[in-house]
Amino acid sequence: MRIDILTLFPEMFDGPLTQSIMKRAMDKGLVEMKFHDIRDYTLDKHKKVDDYAFGGGAGMVMTIQPIADLIDKLKSEHTYDQIIYMTPDGQRFDQRIANTLSLAQNIIIICGHYKGIDQRIRDMYVTQEISIGDFVLTGGELAAAVVSDAIIRLIPGVMSDETSALTDSFQDGLLSPPVYTRPADYKGRKVPEVLLSGNQAKIDQWREEQAYDRTKQLRPDLLDE
Ligand code: ADE
Repeated sequence: MRIDILTLFPEMFDGPLTQSIMKRAMDKGLVEMKFHDIRDYTLDKHKKVDDYAFGGGAGMVMTIQPIADLIDKLKSEHTYDQIIYMTPDGQRFDQRIANTLSLAQNIIIICGHYKGIDQRIRDMYVTQEISIGDFVLTGGELAAAVVSDAIIRLIPGVMSDETSALTDSFQDGLLSPPVYTRPADYKGRKVPEVLLSGNQAKIDQWREEQAYDRTKQLRPDLLDE
């Protein structure tokens, strides 16, 4: 999979997507991430990438030209399954969307700043608009990193234990059951007996019950869906 990120702050991705499992996915060649600095594409002699909003009001709007030229260039080189714009007014991101996007070959993710991007970019190019929650970030970068991480870990071969992504919270519509590791007794707090029993059928049944109970208690809305 190839993910092209369009941003005014490419350095913001240095941390989250260059460590641990994400780094391994790239090293193995399972994912290619390209970070494009939108400012490199502006034709403005002062390197401006934003301007005042027509109609007035506080906040600047990212201009069409550099983003459109960059997308046109990328589209002339690759075919994209989706051109995504990160925005708080987009569709709420969830595991279902992550699953679908993990099947894509090439995607573009546009990160907005200030008051956002000119609506005409959204009308002309964007095929999917995604929000990571009902709050406003200073820009789309952190949201794009969240979405990229959630997608990449689902690509076959990225996780060392192939099944582990399948047993995540939400994959079956339920939260995950509690997990324990050694020691079996920590200052009198014991691991549930069943997990030490060696009886796999019983353990599986216990985990299922715990997952259901936890979901019912913490996220009953998931059971309604
Ligand atoms: N950009 C700013 N806030 C955002 C959010 N909540 N989700 C996605 N992109 C954003």
